[in-house]
Amino acid sequence: MYFIPFGVVRAPSMYSMANVRPDIDFVAWFRSVAPYIHAFRGKIFVVAFGGEVVADGKFVELVHDLNLLASLGVRLVLVHGARSQIEARLNESRLQTTYVRGMRVTDTAALQCVKESIGRVRVEIEALLSMGLPNSPMANAAIRVASGNFVTARPVGVIEGVDLMHTGEVRKVDTAAIRSRLEQGEVALLSPLGYSPTGEIFNLTLENVAAEAAIALKAEKLIFLMDTAGIEQECESGFEPPLLRELTVAEGKALLAKPANKTAKLSDDAQLYLPFAIRACEGGVSRVHLISRHVDGAVLQELFTHGGIGSMISEGPLQNLRDARIEDVGGILQLIEPLEIDGTLVRRNRERLEMEIDRFVVVEHDRTIVGCAALYPFPEEKAGELACLTVHADYRSAGCGDTLLKHIEAKARSQGSQKLFVLTTRTAHWFVERGFLETGVEELPKTKRGLYNYRRRSKVFVKKI
Ligand SMILES: CC(C)(COP(=O)(O)OP(=O)(O)OC[C@H]1O[C@@H](n2cnc3c(N)ncnc32)[C@H](O)[C@@H]1OP(=O)(O)O)[C@@H](O)C(=O)NCCC(=O)NCCS
Repeated sequence: MYFIPFGVVRAPSMYSMANVRPDIDFVAWFRSVAPYIHAFRGKIFVVAFGGEVVADGKFVELVHDLNLLASLGVRLVLVHGARSQIEARLNESRLQTTYVRGMRVTDTAALQCVKESIGRVRVEIEALLSMGLPNSPMANAAIRVASGNFVTARPVGVIEGVDLMHTGEVRKVDTAAIRSRLEQGEVALLSPLGYSPTGEIFNLTLENVAAEAAIALKAEKLIFLMDTAGIEQECESGFEPPLLRELTVAEGKALLAKPANKTAKLSDDAQLYLPFAIRACEGGVSRVHLISRHVDGAVLQELFTHGGIGSMISEGPLQNLRDARIEDVGGILQLIEPLEIDGTLVRRNRERLEMEIDRFVVVEHDRTIVGCAALYPFPEEKAGELACLTVHADYRSAGCGDTLLKHIEAKARSQGSQKLFVLTTRTAHWFVERGFLETGVEELPKTKRGLYNYRRRSKVFVKKI
């Protein structure tokens, strides 16, 4: 497996839903989301959001999107917070809160406020999830919610000489119970409360519950809805901070490890969620997404478009180049089809592709095929043919084509080829800029010459390798 260096920024999607025009665009858009639908079916997604989402009245929009995901076969675990509601309740009761290393000390009076606030938020969420969705695309698609004593907690204990009392952390998640509810088609709802085997109640953070639940359930995705758009890069004041679309765990750690004055430029939200995103990835969760809670449809945009909308964190690089496998045939066909239709590439049907799949290499981005190329060897002439070089429009001009070409050159050399040729109608300059020279059809290997299509009038280029 060959990793392509980080740097390919997730590009805006070709088919954002808002831009869909009838007919052609609709079909293209629908096809573009089909691989995601296929990949997500039966997978567990943990979606975590603060109590503000409920307080702001935004939860109804989120319910529509969650409902849609559930109807596509995604198994949903929701984790809610109630920080703002707890804050308000403590103020009402004129209770002072002290913090140690950013953690609230929950004494018995504060615990009462925590229980009340979380209880209220939970009931509100359950009510909204139970609501039918009349006049919406998901009318009559009711969600059944399962909440319960899924999380066992332990006390955080004494830190810097201060007893944090009822402030706790996750000790265990009852995955068997949650899974059995998910298998019944229910949505599991977890609150930031945990119970100890001795019957005590602990105040937890939603980040801690979400990350530990995602790890324990071996979730495919953990999604945090946050105040900012995602992880924003530092930049000079006065400029809008660019969003980091993709981060590896190592890059996330490097961001957090920057000196205090630089770390301060990461938003409070980023500083809060990033450590838990890293923890989840290291615990085996494939992808963690940090997205804005203020954008209607943010979850859908993040999950069903190439570009996404927020920041995605993964253990290793998302893009790699590897030999194609038979299960890649569908992805390759989808990638090359538009170029076959416009005549840039010669048509290949599924059967031919299946037979020749060993000749192909692919570039995979977050499990989607975004680039491919094939090498056909002509051992007698010590030559190889580069064919079907394609990079998805969203991923061009980031060096992907170059990487594929270099890989094919190295592969051809290792097979004893001394030259590489390519037939092209529209991409001549791209090859010339990479050391190819135009030549005649008579220079092609004999068997290839016999197959040359004089109607297509491709130009022949060759490069010594
Ligand atoms: C040709 C192709 C594979 C390049 O992929 P890529 O990942 O964008 O390649 P790179 O990032 O390494 O190179 C990008 C550079 O090539 C240039 N380029 C792209 N297509 C070109 C073309 N047809 N002619 C000349 N230059 C071209 C881009 O403008 C860019 O240059 P810039 O950075 O100076 O703006 C891609 O454009 C593609 O899939 N095209 C359609 C299919 C095709 O023509 N394949 C060749 C069949 S023989």
